[in-house]
Amino acid sequence: MKTILITGGAGFIGSHVVRLFLKKYPNNTIVNIDCLTYAGNLENLSDIDDLPNYIFEKTDIRDAISLDELFEKYNPDTVIHLAAESHVDRSITNPMEFVETNVVGTVNLLNSARNNWRESFEDKLFYHVSTDEVFGALGQTGLFTEETPYSPNSPYSASKAASDHFVRAYHETYGMPIVISNCSNNYGPNQFPEKLIPLMISNILNGKKLPVYGDGKYTRDWLYVEDHALAIETVYRKGTIGETYCIGGWNELQNIVLINQLCDLMDNKLKLELGTSKKLITFVKDRPGHDKRYAIDARKMEKELGWKPKESFKSGIKKTIDWYLDNEAWLKNITSGAYQDYYSSQYKK
Ligand code: NAD
Ligand code: TYD
Repeated sequence: MKTILITGGAGFIGSHVVRLFLKKYPNNTIVNIDCLTYAGNLENLSDIDDLPNYIFEKTDIRDAISLDELFEKYNPDTVIHLAAESHVDRSITNPMEFVETNVVGTVNLLNSARNNWRESFEDKLFYHVSTDEVFGALGQTGLFTEETPYSPNSPYSASKAASDHFVRAYHETYGMPIVISNCSNNYGPNQFPEKLIPLMISNILNGKKLPVYGDGKYTRDWLYVEDHALAIETVYRKGTIGETYCIGGWNELQNIVLINQLCDLMDNKLKLELGTSKKLITFVKDRPGHDKRYAIDARKMEKELGWKPKESFKSGIKKTIDWYLDNEAWLKNITSGAYQDYYSSQYKK
């Protein structure tokens, strides 16, 4: 019987990870630590929150004392750390929040783990979930690998890079058993509609403009969120201590190509005349420091750990659209209140 402490479990990816671990490890206790920022939503877990092996603790990882108390209370064997401020545009407006949660919060967690595991690191694991954005931008060719040097360009990616470095440093300096994974852009159910795909779905549903930054020729490598959760579970089970794993979807798409596809699929689903949603596409001012292209070489995950994505973009995007159409109440709850203020300030020009 193990205790696995997952941070950020009420967020987009975290909720899928919590659900997967609860199912896969019914004899282990899963403790979800989340302070429920605008991005944290317990509705994401309403189908599993009465399982006997699930515990939720509303705690802020910026609060070192509370974290120490939690570690003393649960004595976790494993930490899977996902809690973070995660949106690039918000990091441009408010970088310090990213330093506080992503950097200071991560070091707080490392300290609590180190303190709690002071007698022995045996059978312990600190798993840090990170992003491919730490590597910066690719040109037209090439892929990010585990050897790519860090070169973050946004306050978000700089804060994630700093947290990766701290995790690595705790391994080198104190012998902390760590593993890090750097994943490409996720999409799927429960993603907050500030990120590209759910924002476009939400705007199409509401007949609002579809804001495309710059010329729209920026490229991302898209991975269905349940495939990321499966990758995290694979790294947890089979990963080598001290190593880094790059996780990606082998699925590069230019933003404008993706948005056009999404528009056609939405027209079809909503029984609109083909071309209706595309009329909403509006090119807007570019994001400062916008990374041109991200793409992951995920061969290490496949060769060493036997993981590869199950969903193609075609199947994953259909599931995603269906989920948002079936969960309009979820979307409505989220897009009321503070979201409106965020939206009008982000898309004012
Ligand atoms: P998200 O913004 O949807 O969720 C983040 C969660 O962390 C929320 O539940 C929030 O309440 C919680 N949180 C934030 N600050 C906290 C704090 N101070 N204390 C406790 N909890 C706090 O993010 P996501 O998209 O699910 O990303 C999860 C992790 O995966 C992040 O570390 C992110 O960097 C990484 N990642 C995300 C993507 C992606 O495409 N979304 C890709 C690669 C890696
Ligand atoms: P996003 O979902 O914010 O992820 P990230 O910036 O972490 O990759 O954005 C994905 C891409 O879509 C990125 O190139 C920025 C672009 N984008 C838009 O063109 N319009 C938008 O309104 C948003 C949110 C993103």
